Amino acid sequence: MSASSPFPSTHDRAATVTRLRAAGCVFAEDEARLLISAARTPAALAAMVDRRAAGQPLEHVLGWAEFCGLRIAVDPGVFVPRRRTEFLVRRAAALVRRAAAPARQDAARQDTARQDTARPRAVVVDLCCGSGAVGVALAAALGQVELYAADIDPAAVRCARRNVAAAGGRVYRGDLYGPLPAPLRGRVDILAANVPYVPSGDVGLLPPEARAHEPRVALDGGADGLDVLRRVAAGAPSWLAPGGHLLVETSERQAPLAAEAVGGGGLIPRVAHSRRLNATVIIGTRPPRPAA
Ligand SMILES: C[S@@+](CC[C@H](N)C(=O)[O-])C[C@H]1O[C@@H](n2cnc3c(N)ncnc32)[C@H](O)[C@@H]1O
Repeated sequence: MSASSPFPSTHDRAATVTRLRAAGCVFAEDEARLLISAARTPAALAAMVDRRAAGQPLEHVLGWAEFCGLRIAVDPGVFVPRRRTEFLVRRAAALVRRAAAPARQDAARQDTARQDTARPRAVVVDLCCGSGAVGVALAAALGQVELYAADIDPAAVRCARRNVAAAGGRVYRGDLYGPLPAPLRGRVDILAANVPYVPSGDVGLLPPEARAHEPRVALDGGADGLDVLRRVAAGAPSWLAPGGHLLVETSERQAPLAAEAVGGGGLIPRVAHSRRLNATVIIGTRPPRPAA
């Protein structure tokens, strides 16, 4: 190619599709379009195609993943947010909206000046946040929220800080609730925790993209996959506000045991499932304060 050849040329496009297809990429045309739009030079495109052909997740090569219609930055070595987790976000957003509806109706009956004070910002915690996708998507869906996120993995925390700062939130590093600010206790409206839930014995069965390019700490949930979930469920009641909700994703098969763990901690559990996204979410609600 001469120095003055336009980039990307028809040849660049065709060669990229051919290379990706040969590497086994099922959606080679779509991937080629995304890589070409991300690359500024032929050399940059060649390097990206090499990484993808070597098996790196497309999102790590691009540096972002699409989640709930947003572009979430995802660094190499950080869990790639999955489409199925959009179901957890949707359920969480619906719970916040439902809780806000009576306050809005009350306020509408009063004067308009009181409407803002009648709608405090929901307090959202994204535990095991990875890239921070869940919290960021909730903030985008709900408008103003008070957003906190935490993860044990330094690479995830670094990545999440970039995403979550843009949504006005804070990211902490440490084991589950350990690093959260103490004044949050009893104030959390939504505690979203997409914890690792693959049983240890099944991690080796995951697609190579996950096995080789996502950290084990993001995938391995212990013998039955529910070790981290059980710890999250046990701690949730002391962080949730009365009427607040814990949402955790599991597999459909794990749902009965996961619901039992959530109920055992003192929350009222229920199971929600989306057939379209093949997603299962356990929702645990802290009983509201009895009316005086
Ligand atoms: C399945 S990934 C989910 C990431 C993100 N919530 C999402 O949906 O894209 C699980 C995350 O939990 C984090 N994690 C695992 N054990 C943890 C622990 N004990 N405390 C805090 N974070 C933990 C991992 O580092 C990983 O980022």
